[in-house]
Amino acid sequence: MAAPDRYAVVGNPISHSKSPRIHTLFAAQTGEDITYEALLAPLDGFAAAVRDFIAAGGRGMNVTVPFKEEAFRLAHRLTERARTAGAVNTLSFACDEILGDNTDGAGLVRDISANLGVAIAGQRVLLLGAGGAARGVILPLLAERPIVLIIANRTADKAYDLASKFPGTSGSGFADLAGQSFDLVINATSAGLANAELPLPAGLFAPGCLAYDMVYGKETPFLEQARAAGAKGADGLGMLVEQAAESFFVWRGIRPRTDAVREMLRRP
Ligand code: ATR
Repeated sequence: MAAPDRYAVVGNPISHSKSPRIHTLFAAQTGEDITYEALLAPLDGFAAAVRDFIAAGGRGMNVTVPFKEEAFRLAHRLTERARTAGAVNTLSFACDEILGDNTDGAGLVRDISANLGVAIAGQRVLLLGAGGAARGVILPLLAERPIVLIIANRTADKAYDLASKFPGTSGSGFADLAGQSFDLVINATSAGLANAELPLPAGLFAPGCLAYDMVYGKETPFLEQARAAGAKGADGLGMLVEQAAESFFVWRGIRPRTDAVREMLRRP
C-alpha cells in the first residue's frame, strides 16, 4: 500500500496551531489518505524547513506567523489571490516547483456569507487594520461587490497607502469615520490579541450590522464594543476552518464540510 501523502503547517510558534486537528478531521471525513503535522521552524530557518519537508516527500504546507511573506518570496509561482495579498498561507509541491496560494480571504468571505448568512454584495463594509491580515482579504471582499469598502487604520497613512493599491476602496483614520455607519465591520487589527480597545466613533454599527473579529477563541474588546452597540458579533474561528477547507481543496480537489469541525473546535 502507498504511504499517505504528507502535509504540514509551519510556523514559529506552532504548538498552539489547530491546523493538524482540522486537517485530520477533514481527512477522516473525506477518506483522503493523508497525514498532517505541525513543524516548528527557527526564525531564520523557514526556507530550509520547506526544502527538508519537500525532500522527505511532503506534498504541501500551510504557512503561518511569521513566515507568510517569506513563503510569498520563496514560491516559484503565485496564484492571483496570493500575489495581491502579498503573502502565502498555502504551498503546493509538484514537478520540482513550489506554488504559493493564499486561502485566508476566501475563508473569511465563505464564513461570512455561507456560515453566518450575511451577504456582502451591496453592503457598506469597513475593514479595520492595514497590516498583512487586512491586505490578504481585500481582493476577495471586493469580488463580492460591496457598495463601499473603507479601510481604516490607527496609522491613517498606512490605510491611505493600502487603499491606493486597490481601486474601489478608500483609506481612512479612525476619527474620520465619525458620522458614517456600516453593515459589516471586520476587525483585521491585532488589537484583540493584546485586549486593546479600538477608538471607534459612536454610531459606526448600522442596525443589523455584523461585527467580525479575525482573532478567534476570545471575546475581544472590539466584539464587546460592537455587541454593546447592538451589532451581531462573530470571532474568526469560522474563518480559520474555512481557510483550511480551501487549502484542503487546493491540494486534494475535494471540499470538506466544515460545520461539524467548527462545532468540535468550539467545545472546550
Ligand atoms: P497582521 O499581519 O496581523 O496584520 P501587522 O502587519 O503587524 O500584523 O498589522 C497589525 C495591524 O493591527 C495594524 O493595522 C496595526 O495598526 P498600526 O498600523 O497603526 O500599527 C493594528 N493594531 C495593532 N494594535 C493596535 C491597537 N492597539 N489599536 C489599533 N490598531 C492596532
